[in-house]
Amino acid sequence: MKKIWIIANWKSNKNLAEALDWVSQVGEKLERKDNINIVVCPQFSEIEEVAKQIKVGKLPLMVGSQDLSPFTEGPYTGEESASSLQGLVQLAILGHSERRKTFGETDDTVAKKVKRALETDIIPLVCVQNETTPVPTGCNLVAYEPIFAIGTGNPDTPENANKIANLLKQKYETPTRKLEVLYGGSINSENVKKFVEQEHISGVLVGGASLNPNEFLKIVSECLNYE
Ligand code: PGA
Repeated sequence: MKKIWIIANWKSNKNLAEALDWVSQVGEKLERKDNINIVVCPQFSEIEEVAKQIKVGKLPLMVGSQDLSPFTEGPYTGEESASSLQGLVQLAILGHSERRKTFGETDDTVAKKVKRALETDIIPLVCVQNETTPVPTGCNLVAYEPIFAIGTGNPDTPENANKIANLLKQKYETPTRKLEVLYGGSINSENVKKFVEQEHISGVLVGGASLNPNEFLKIVSECLNYE
């Protein structure tokens, strides 16, 4: 059975109380399944409390960050070093198109962030716009997120997402390197099943629709029943 990732990217939404409320509402209703990894990515300031709540409640959720610094520890005011996140998050979303567009993040910066993540045992999840965006060495988890689909209610077709996922695999897979490719962009409980059913798609990165606990639970249950 294929492993499926369902990743909630909250972006700059939810204060701490809202974040903890979401975790308690979602966490207790989640079915435990070995082939499903569910990851919640809050803002930095909420990560520690969210991680604590998940640990105490033994909830079937992982925690991710939405970014991390390309630098190691040191004089980098405002940056969140990977070592400060080590042990708190299992995954980091890197090179999201909002970071590339609004914060001028380049492919080189993304490659440095991947390195920092790998040094600190954090799984790097690199977002790409299509098969031409570079996937740095050591990164085996990728999200195909076309810009036209992000936050617009206008997703790519599942068939085209599958095609791009396949192209990425052909480009980067070797006998010793396997790539898992997720799709992101206007995913909701109505359309998610069609994406995870695609041969080359191993899950979804969900923005807007992940904010509402009930909608997110519906997305998860669609993914549990995709076979
Ligand atoms: P969206 O965002 O689901 O709101 O389109 C996805 C993302 O930006 O990762």
